[in-house]
Amino acid sequence: MPRVTVTRRLTFNAAHRLHNPELSDSENRSLFGPCNNANWHGHNNRLDVSVTGDIETKSGYVMDLKKLRDVVEEHLVDKMDHRNLNIDVDFMQGINPTAENLVVACWNVLAPVVRPARLTRLRLWETDNNYVEYEGP
Ligand code: NI
Repeated sequence: MPRVTVTRRLTFNAAHRLHNPELSDSENRSLFGPCNNANWHGHNNRLDVSVTGDIETKSGYVMDLKKLRDVVEEHLVDKMDHRNLNIDVDFMQGINPTAENLVVACWNVLAPVVRPARLTRLRLWETDNNYVEYEGP
C-alpha cells in the first residue's frame, strides 16, 4: 500500500508574552524584543497538521480531513483562538509561549487524540516569514 502524508491547515489568533522570570527586565527586553511587551501582543497563527498512513481501499483517503479538522479544532484551536496563551490555555501553563514551545505542547495534546491516525508533522506559522516544525520525540 502506498503511504501518503495528508495535511490540514487551521488558523488561530492568540495573544502572548515571551518572558523568562529568571532574567531581569532588561535581559528579557533584549532577548525577546517586542514579544516581551508587558501588555501582550498577538499573532495570526497557522498550524499545518500532517498525518501519514496507508490509503484506505474503501474511501481512497488516508484520513478524512474534515475529521482531522474537527479533532484539531476541539483539542487545540478552540482552546487557543482569541485567547491569551500565557493565561488561558491549560496545556501552556508555566511554559514560555515561543513558537517552539507551543508546537511541542500542541504535539503532546494532539498525537494521542488523532489515533489511529499517525501524527507525523506539525508546522506552526507565527508570521508569514517564521515557522517552526516538529516531527515528534
Ligand atoms: Ni510574539
